[in-house]
Order: sequence, then C-alpha cells, then structure tokens
Amino acid sequence: MTNRCTQGARKLISASQIRKTYTDASNTITVFDDLSFTVKAGETIALMGESGAGKSTLLHLLGGFDQPDSGTISIDGHTITDMKDGPLSRFRRQHLGMIFQQYNLIPSLCARDNISFVRRLNGLCAEDEFTRELISVLKLEQRLDHYPAQLSGGEQQRVAIARALASRPSMILADEPTGNLDERTANQVMEQLMQAVALHNSTLLLVTHSAQTADYLNSTWHLEQGQLQC
Ligand SMILES: Nc1ncnc2c1ncn2[C@@H]1O[C@H](COP(=O)(O)OP(=O)(O)OP(=O)(O)O)[C@@H](O)[C@H]1O
Ligand SMILES: [Mg+2]
Repeated sequence: MTNRCTQGARKLISASQIRKTYTDASNTITVFDDLSFTVKAGETIALMGESGAGKSTLLHLLGGFDQPDSGTISIDGHTITDMKDGPLSRFRRQHLGMIFQQYNLIPSLCARDNISFVRRLNGLCAEDEFTRELISVLKLEQRLDHYPAQLSGGEQQRVAIARALASRPSMILADEPTGNLDERTANQVMEQLMQAVALHNSTLLLVTHSAQTADYLNSTWHLEQGQLQC
C-alpha cells in the first residue's frame, strides 16, 4: 500500500463543468451534466461506482479518446478539449499511459517489443535504466521473448502495465486492470503496479469494483449520479 504525500503538489488534472451525453435514435443519456474536479500530481485514486455510473466514460474523456459536449479538461497545463486529432494523439503518446481490462497487447510483438512500442514512437531508445527497473519490479525478466498468446493473464497485464509506464507518462489511467484476474494474481499485479507507479511518482486514476483493490491507492472517489464523492 502506498502513502505518498501530495500536499502542495501542482494540479495535474483539471476538469471544469463537464457535460457528456450519448444520443441514439430514440433517447439521450446524460452521464455528466456539470462535473468539475482536480487531481494533484502524484495522487493515486481509485474510482468506484455502480455499473453504468460513467467511470469508463470519464477515463475516455480524460485520455482524450472522447470529447465532452461542453466543458474543459486540462492535463498538466494542456487543454486537451481544444486540441485537434494530430496534436491530441501526440499528447496522448507523451503524457498518458492507459491500462485496459483486456490487456490490449499487440499479438505480433513479443513482450519486450510491446513494452518499448510507445517509447519508440516517442523517439526514445527501447530500453534504459528506468525500463530495466520497471521490468524487474514487474517480474518480467524471464518473459520478455514471449508473445502475448504464450503469457498468462497476469503476465499479459504486467506487460501492459510496463508498456503504459515505460515512457514515463505524467498520468496513468487504468480501467478495471485486475477485473479478469483471480484474487491472488490481482493482488500481486496491484502490488507490482503500485511499486511501478512509485518509481516515477506517477499520477494514477484506477477504476475498480473491488474495495480490496481500492485499498492499494491513496484515496477512493465514488461516482454517483454524475458527481464525484471524494
Ligand atoms: N458509446 C455509447 N453510446 C451510448 N451510450 C453509452 C456509450 N458508452 C457508454 N454509454 C452509456 O453511458 C453510461 C455510462 O457508461 P460507462 O461505460 O461509462 O459506465 P461504467 O461506470 O464504466 O460501467 P461498468 O462498471 O459497467 O464498466 C451507461 O448508461 C452506458 O450505457
Ligand atoms: Mg466501465
């Protein structure tokens, strides 16, 4: 369990008056009407709430994968809600690490190349001192030449965590990263994820339905009726 002090830390995420609706032929779902919040650099936050509360929608908005109907989102001083597609993709590559429930590794690349993929896109060397430490913390040294199909679920998720953290993004977003794992493996992955996040004092927002998983993070926010109870 981590206990990092973020007192006096700068604001990393600032969301102001977010409205997000989904409309289809027959109706409109309002997920957020007027949502505002900030997250300080170095905070690790578990995001909980009922199914359909809008947790994944919120991560997609923060990661710039989707746009709000109105309102602004700034990450590390960059207003992503004003960005066009090209600069937004570049921003995402450089500032965001995303971890999904389904791992989303590239099947044709071995673990080593999956981990270095975003680094290479960012023009960084494939490995450095930091990535070697990351691989060691995540206990992946013996699995680097394996392809995703040759890895267990927990191993694939650890590779996905290494990939998300390898280029030292300022913000990590994780959507139910242990949702597919048995309890023991989920705890191991969470322990290693928190150690890996601590290496670079990264900011982490992690969606989970498990109170046990939430205990690994500094604080828990509950999403209810479009508002965050912190
Ligand atoms: N692309 C979409 N089109 C229409 N409605 C959507 C879309 N994506 C999400 N929704 C709706 O928005 C609401 C919030 O969905 P979201 O996926 O964010 O919930 P969640 O909190 O992540 O739920 P879960 O815990 O089940 O993953 C739900 O009512 C969902 O049906
Ligand atoms: Mg979801």
